[in-house]
Amino acid sequence: MQHLLSMNEVTHSHLNSIFTRANEIKDGTVDWAAKGTFAANIFLEASTRTKNSFYIAERRLGIDVVDVNGSDSSLTKGESLKDTLKALESIGVQLVVLRQPEQGVLQDLSEGLNLSIINAGDGTGEHPTQSLLDLYTISQEFSSFKDLHVTIAGDIKHSRVARSNAHALKKLGAKVSFAAPVEWQDESLSSEYISMDEAVEVSDVLMLLRVQCERHEEQHVSNKDYLSLYGLTVEREARMKRGSIILHPAPVNRGIEIDDVLVECERSRIFDQMSNGVAVRMAIIQKLLEGDL
Ligand code: CP
Repeated sequence: MQHLLSMNEVTHSHLNSIFTRANEIKDGTVDWAAKGTFAANIFLEASTRTKNSFYIAERRLGIDVVDVNGSDSSLTKGESLKDTLKALESIGVQLVVLRQPEQGVLQDLSEGLNLSIINAGDGTGEHPTQSLLDLYTISQEFSSFKDLHVTIAGDIKHSRVARSNAHALKKLGAKVSFAAPVEWQDESLSSEYISMDEAVEVSDVLMLLRVQCERHEEQHVSNKDYLSLYGLTVEREARMKRGSIILHPAPVNRGIEIDDVLVECERSRIFDQMSNGVAVRMAIIQKLLEGDL
């Protein structure tokens, strides 16, 4: 694999190889540097975690990073994204980390380029590196994905995280359920949705999603009602299964998807996800540059 565009391309064997490398990186047992490699991080949508953890991952690997953004690059003069990528390839960039708002354009964009593209989020399409760090975080708690009950809950329709994780978890043999208000359900992922009250009682992993206000044309339910109808309240958390964990890709809307006091509760792995993101992204970059994905 030259690019990482979708979780559909990631096999069980890729997953094992990335997780093993991420463990080696964390243990300090792998000495790997890509001196002389140039990467460009192009973020045309806002980001705190993905952009900065990629930057730290790249710098830790000795990679030089050029910053290309939507406000001061020649994208503002009307240059296409494809020509921008061709330009970067021509001046010696080997790796591009790309977040941009359009779903379904990456396959075309990546064709004919002699550099690797990592999809850092394509609109409501996919977010494969988030999925890989989510799966890695789950693997730290459970010995197998087979028959693990994972519920993905919230704004499913607008969530690239839901799409990437749903594909990957089903392929790994997990039982995947979905909980969402009717307006934010996505029939292409499932036609059967469960309530949050059921989700907390059956799930080993409860994966909450951010309410993506910036992608909504209208607000169907107030923020206060959202928490009590569809979010993780203190009362619901008390009914979760023994040993179950809470994930959220963040940023978190505290008091909407999850009660403020639960964000850092014992079951929460939300900040572990962020921390794992650096090692997992280092592993992904190494594997791509080695041609071993
Ligand atoms: N989880 C995630 O993608 O966060 P950012 O938007 O801050 O990168």
